[in-house]
Amino acid sequence: IQLTQEEMKRVAAYRAADMVGSGMVVGLGTGSTAAHFIDRLAELMLNGSLTGIIGIPTSLQTEKHAIKAGIPLSTLDSHPIVDISIDGADEVDPKYNLVKGRGGSLFREKMIEGASRKFVVIVDETKMVGCLGGSGLSVPVEIVPFSWNYTLLKIQKLFENEIGFSARLRVDQDNKPFKTDNENYIIEMFFEKGVSGDLNEVSDKLLRLTGVIEHGMFLNMATNVVMAKKDGSLVILN
Ligand code: A5P
Repeated sequence: IQLTQEEMKRVAAYRAADMVGSGMVVGLGTGSTAAHFIDRLAELMLNGSLTGIIGIPTSLQTEKHAIKAGIPLSTLDSHPIVDISIDGADEVDPKYNLVKGRGGSLFREKMIEGASRKFVVIVDETKMVGCLGGSGLSVPVEIVPFSWNYTLLKIQKLFENEIGFSARLRVDQDNKPFKTDNENYIIEMFFEKGVSGDLNEVSDKLLRLTGVIEHGMFLNMATNVVMAKKDGSLVILN
């Protein structure tokens, strides 16, 4: 068999749903892979296999989906300890560091997934990379709208010695600044050869810039990766 990417996403999501137990507080991820997980979770609740589940949504989009699916929801304020979070990723490197947030929800995702005892990443094999940013796609950074262009300049300055680096503001279909659920902007960083050097140092430098709220590199956060392959097999990495 040859699975499509959508089928691979579903296979990974369904397998991860088996890791959820009754009575758990569950971080609900954002994106097309996480959407399959939410559907499956709702199904398992409906047929009585899972009871007492409380979901913590990582975006407004996921909140809407989960409400429709009938999953009871709460917040991190009321449930500061999350048993398990399950979410997709844009990239996974060999150490299970991730790039997330191409859907724009990186801040809430990082907050909720960082509060989770277990953080299970569900991906298809196309998301595996040798080096973060290495797929030529963007590494997003959430910034405060105030003086965003100045913050963009600061980010460009930070990586001025990086050959092939570029950064720009994310815009929507109408060419207006894309706004996150927190009403912030996103800067997209592009690294021609992937992010080089010590990732924790890169992270610290970015977070020290005044306008920066968070970035989409999720370092040392994933506890498990469930990866589906085209041939229909699953690899579970701990
Ligand atoms: C949302 O902000 C992202 O972090 C998503 O988790 C990521 O973009 C993966 O999305 P897909 O499952 O749709 O590929």
